[in-house]
Amino acid sequence: MGGLQEVLLVLFLQGLLGSSIGQEINNRFFPDSLKIGVASAAPQIEGGWNQGSKGVTIWDTFAMSHANLIIDRSTPEAACNSYNKWREDLAIIKGLNSQFYSLSIAWARILPTGYYNGTDSINERGVTYYKTILKALIKKGIEPMVTLYHWDLPDQLQDDFGGWLSPKAADLFAEYARLCYKLFGDEVKWWITINEPKQVCEAGYGGGGFAPGIVKPGVGNYICAKNVLLAHAKAYRIYDEEFRATNKGKVAMVIDTPWFEPGSQSPDDVAAAERARLFMYGLYGHPIYYGDWPEIVKDRVALRSYGEGLEVSRLPEFTPEEKKLIKGTSDYLTINYYATHMANATGEAPFDRRSFYDDMNIIE
Ligand SMILES: *[C@@H]1O[C@H](CO)[C@@H](O)[C@H](O)[C@H]1NC(C)=O
Ligand SMILES: *[C@@H]1O[C@H](CO)[C@@H](O)[C@H](O)[C@H]1NC(C)=O
Repeated sequence: MGGLQEVLLVLFLQGLLGSSIGQEINNRFFPDSLKIGVASAAPQIEGGWNQGSKGVTIWDTFAMSHANLIIDRSTPEAACNSYNKWREDLAIIKGLNSQFYSLSIAWARILPTGYYNGTDSINERGVTYYKTILKALIKKGIEPMVTLYHWDLPDQLQDDFGGWLSPKAADLFAEYARLCYKLFGDEVKWWITINEPKQVCEAGYGGGGFAPGIVKPGVGNYICAKNVLLAHAKAYRIYDEEFRATNKGKVAMVIDTPWFEPGSQSPDDVAAAERARLFMYGLYGHPIYYGDWPEIVKDRVALRSYGEGLEVSRLPEFTPEEKKLIKGTSDYLTINYYATHMANATGEAPFDRRSFYDDMNIIE
């Protein structure tokens, strides 16, 4: 990790407005090396869901088919219309004095079906859209930070092989990543492979509250986690081997987690808080830094799996080659943090159901 010279602070505007305004002003200063910027995601702001030959994503279809799960029934169809109003958006970012802007590329704008099938499969209009924004940012002195995947899988890949439940998604993501490095490597020095894998996997393929709405608690989430880690690692290695020498950028996965404090200083509650951190951040961070799932996660999922009468753990294993591939694939440490939670120890849940949360085994 050692080489972290710059600290990046992304202020999510919602959080900023919700928590800082109206509180006491103090005279402490941020260090000059701290950069402050803003962030967005393609499916959250772009709209233009079928403009510019963009392909359909799992969030496009999910928002239509599961409108009841979305508080105000909003969809990515129009969103903030940034596809058409990006000039205004960039002016606002400049007006905030942001030093960088973290945005995401919609895979389906570059490769409408998700597959890279030679140069004919590239959607030039999508390429032009991002290229224009990236150049405009640099001209304004705002550094771009680009996420390759912010939850918007091309729908075709979900239909063809179950999306992140298949390692094929990792291979196709790696192809897409290589293409983006090639197309935008001159402008982009900060790359994020996957944003918030826990949301992709636990919400998308475990609980099913997010696209693609697959309900496979305690099973789909872990299969997805493995495939997302493979996708990240392959994309990292491609950058490392083919682009780093010329483009000199940095690559990481952005992992989200609450922080967990123990409800008391009793050893059981202290252990519960640590277990929660390992299930939330460690599920992704541990393989990336140490090459495998955290031991506690392995032990817990195995214990629950055997209790449920399974012969193997619901947590898939990594082969030695996969461990080697994944270990060390981070140029900078990332945390998306929203709140601190309290964690207490709790008794073992009945073995008649499968659940990520029973595996974690805490009271929040
Ligand atoms: C990509 O190419 C393969 C092989 O030619 C073909 O089978 C497949 O349908 C193509 N996929 C897309 C989405 O174009
Ligand atoms: C957690 O433990 C502390 C200390 O025993 C207690 O005060 C608190 O109410 C507990 N919280 C929950 C949700 O059990």
